Amino acid sequence: MSVAKKDIKKVTTHQLQEMKNRGEKISMLTAYDYSYARIIDDAGIDVILVGDSASNVMAGHISTLPITLDQMIYHAQSVVRAVDRALVIVDLPFGSYQGNSSEALRSAIRIMKESGAHAVKMEGGEEIIESVKRILSAGIPVMGHLGLTPQSIYKFGTYTVRAKEEAEAEKLKTDAKLLEQAGCFSIVLEKIPAKLGEDVSKSLEIPTIGIGAGNGVDGQVLVLHDMLGITKEFHPRFLRRYLDLYSEIKNAVGSYIDDVKSKDFPNDSEQY
Ligand code: KIV
Repeated sequence: MSVAKKDIKKVTTHQLQEMKNRGEKISMLTAYDYSYARIIDDAGIDVILVGDSASNVMAGHISTLPITLDQMIYHAQSVVRAVDRALVIVDLPFGSYQGNSSEALRSAIRIMKESGAHAVKMEGGEEIIESVKRILSAGIPVMGHLGLTPQSIYKFGTYTVRAKEEAEAEKLKTDAKLLEQAGCFSIVLEKIPAKLGEDVSKSLEIPTIGIGAGNGVDGQVLVLHDMLGITKEFHPRFLRRYLDLYSEIKNAVGSYIDDVKSKDFPNDSEQY
């Protein structure tokens, strides 16, 4: 029996906290459009991230830096239209919040107002804490993002594991505490040693969501197109591929081309 839309219990930031409290892991995936968001919401995903990885996955850029606030809002609107249950979080893109806290607040308000999403995500710790507080003071839930922060890729130089050295690990722990104290409802930890991921998660009340941060965090996130095997050239150790959709789609399209060329498609039952 299908559940009526109005009876679907929506995931909230409070529920994510309750999930951590009772030891239930949180599932999160990215989505950037209506069709995929519809499928993963129907499958029961807890959180959908409209990630700025759309810059790579949807637009083919080599980094997350080029995507604009307007483009993020367009992706977020498409996702929000599809979702009945999941919590929808949207990345504040590079350049939309680093300038000052007024600009950060303006960008976050545009995302919430124009897309109907439920929260925003921002990369960084101490450097952005004033902006985080300003956005929170407007009643907008904020998710933090520490470890490998792709918007700073040209500062890091590589996409290798972060915080392996003591000093960087200590800074990450301090930043995580600052974000929690400021009022963030959750923090993404990207590509850090599993032990550090576990230590940070244990030291915080709020839930952590890991990507390449081991099994001791409170939830996991992957880029949808990576876990479905649509992106072919990306093979980080943390990525589990659940499908080889690149090959599946390529084979299906190949069959379609053959059917058209051989005049097999459409057949008698496929025409009027
Ligand atoms: O943009 C994104 O997809 C992300 C995830 C990798 C966490 O920030």
